[in-house]
Amino acid sequence: MRTKMLENYLNIQFMKQALTNKKGLVHLFSQMADAEGGNSGELHLFDKIEDYIQDPTIKKIVKAHKADEEKHEQMFLDYIEMLGEKPIPLTDDIRLLKVLDSELNILNNEIKTDQDVINIMALLLVIEERAILEFQNLLQVFDKDWAIKSMLEEAIKDEEKHLKFCNKIISHYTTDEVEVNKQIEEYRRLEDLSYRKLSLNHMNYCLNENFIEGSFKQNFWRFLGNIAKSGIQNEKGHESWEPIGA
Ligand SMILES: [Fe+2]
Ligand SMILES: [Fe+2]
Repeated sequence: MRTKMLENYLNIQFMKQALTNKKGLVHLFSQMADAEGGNSGELHLFDKIEDYIQDPTIKKIVKAHKADEEKHEQMFLDYIEMLGEKPIPLTDDIRLLKVLDSELNILNNEIKTDQDVINIMALLLVIEERAILEFQNLLQVFDKDWAIKSMLEEAIKDEEKHLKFCNKIISHYTTDEVEVNKQIEEYRRLEDLSYRKLSLNHMNYCLNENFIEGSFKQNFWRFLGNIAKSGIQNEKGHESWEPIGA
């Protein structure tokens, strides 16, 4: 718990240093829009399950959920436009869903059974949980920026509602609560590991792009990056994992 708090604290400090200038903001909002969007974000998950779902109530929930994510994506893209910029292209190693799916291997599977829908919704659930935490962290980074704060508050409200949507859909497709809770716990564990990988890739990306100025600060983050890398490589099966170079 204490490690998580420290990790969160450092995450906030890093974002304050790397992402509050214009270049950093464009990067941050490009990443946020991408995480919502259809290319590799949440919207892509709905595209996968939409045809399989027949129940009208569940269809309605999916429609409402999808509309919210489209709204979030547009809100973040509008912000980039307001800055007079265009979203920047991202590689898969700084996209959460892609990094997470390299552990889960479910995104390329066809949806043929109820269990396939449960898998996708469990994946979405843990991503929603992460989004809430990340948006709350960003609220601390941008505590004096009224425009960004309002966007984040709006998104947090929606994401909290989405957790209920995910749970409702999951319980429509299974009555085995014990089994599904076990699955969600496992997904949380893998999401946490993926998020640590993603954060390190992201940090290296920001360092490479010189979002952080000053060699003292750069060296400080590189030093912490090495500790984080060893932590990941200490996990069984991840010994040979390497972040993108810094
Ligand atoms: Fe969202
Ligand atoms: Fe969401």
